Amino acid sequence: MSPSLFSRRGLLVGASAAIAGAACAEPPSLKAAAKRAGRRFGCAVEPQTLAADGDFRDLVAQQCDLLIPENAMKWNALRPSADAFDFAAADAVIAAARAQGAQVHGHCLVWHEAMPNWAAGPIDGPTARDRLEAHVGAVAGRYRGAVASWDVINEAVERNDRRADGLRRSLWLEALGPDYLLTALDAAHRAAPQARLAISDYGLEYDHVTWMVEKRGTMLALLRDLLRRGAPLHALSIQGHLLGAEPASFGLGLRRFLSDVADLGLEIYVTELDVNEQTLTGSAAARDAIVADIYRRFVDTILNEPAVRFVATWGLSDRYTSKTEMFPHADGLDVRPLPFDRDLRPKAAARALQAAFQRAA
Ligand code: G3I
Repeated sequence: MSPSLFSRRGLLVGASAAIAGAACAEPPSLKAAAKRAGRRFGCAVEPQTLAADGDFRDLVAQQCDLLIPENAMKWNALRPSADAFDFAAADAVIAAARAQGAQVHGHCLVWHEAMPNWAAGPIDGPTARDRLEAHVGAVAGRYRGAVASWDVINEAVERNDRRADGLRRSLWLEALGPDYLLTALDAAHRAAPQARLAISDYGLEYDHVTWMVEKRGTMLALLRDLLRRGAPLHALSIQGHLLGAEPASFGLGLRRFLSDVADLGLEIYVTELDVNEQTLTGSAAARDAIVADIYRRFVDTILNEPAVRFVATWGLSDRYTSKTEMFPHADGLDVRPLPFDRDLRPKAAARALQAAFQRAA
């Protein structure tokens, strides 16, 4: 066989094999990288989106081994009236997770937002206690064995409400006092004794933001107090809504905070990771690079703490993110907060997450 043909044929065969190989090669899998680092990677989902968009459903299955219902397990999704539950959407998330072999982190049993109109007004103590225990018991009980961990109370801390304990003046606090936290955790533990129970909050991430540093102190005091009073509390969920406009100050302060939480015997979950890039300008590639660097810096620091058990983004693709409505670009640029783009292709942020998990392994 003439060298030219061989070399050309050889090259052709080699090239086609390489292309075939590349085409068949699995794209990077964040859940595989996370598993090698002893963690899980997941994302928040809406059941109707998974049902309607098979390509997106396949991406979630390929990338995630943990799912969080973005809205399906909130009061306004579950409670059409005081004496009725509608579990259809929540059940669909459980079914999707089972189909993908993914774990479920439930969100959220008690919150001051997403309350249906019939339950949003102020109520007296006994009514609040009955309502809280009935709801938490019914929901955590229904998903006993199906939901591995829960955000039992979401966003309980609000220092601007000027309480000495830093607690938010929510309808639950006004009706029951600080004991509502213990009441909710106890009700969840009775209904689902195996579930890991967390409280969740935002604004704990940045070392240079004074109110966040202060909130870390308030949160630590709250965790210590709950544990001292025997609360069945197993974890802190750090939401991780990061800010494109801020310097990525995820340094010693954050590491110390994570270590202090872990020293209480608690696990740590990152449950709502994304980057608000509303103030960023320039090309998509330029914005993606900045967003990726923020992901990298935050997740590198987070994964230094062994107590961190999973990292979940608040959505997986820019095709579906609540930031499109909540934080649109003034000039109509597409919103790009998540690891995969609208065409479900991995962005720099996906590669940054992959590399961070590889470094942590
Ligand atoms: O499903 C209804 C739809 O039927 C109706 O036509 C439409 C009209 O407004 O509303 C739809 O419900 C919306 C729901 O998202 C689903 O899209 C609600 O109005 C809207 O308030 C709700 O917003 C969610 C928000 O929490 C409040 O529950 C966002 O999607 C969700 O991303 C956001 O997530 C929160 C976390 O739970 C807690 N941490 C902060 C995070 C971001 O705000």
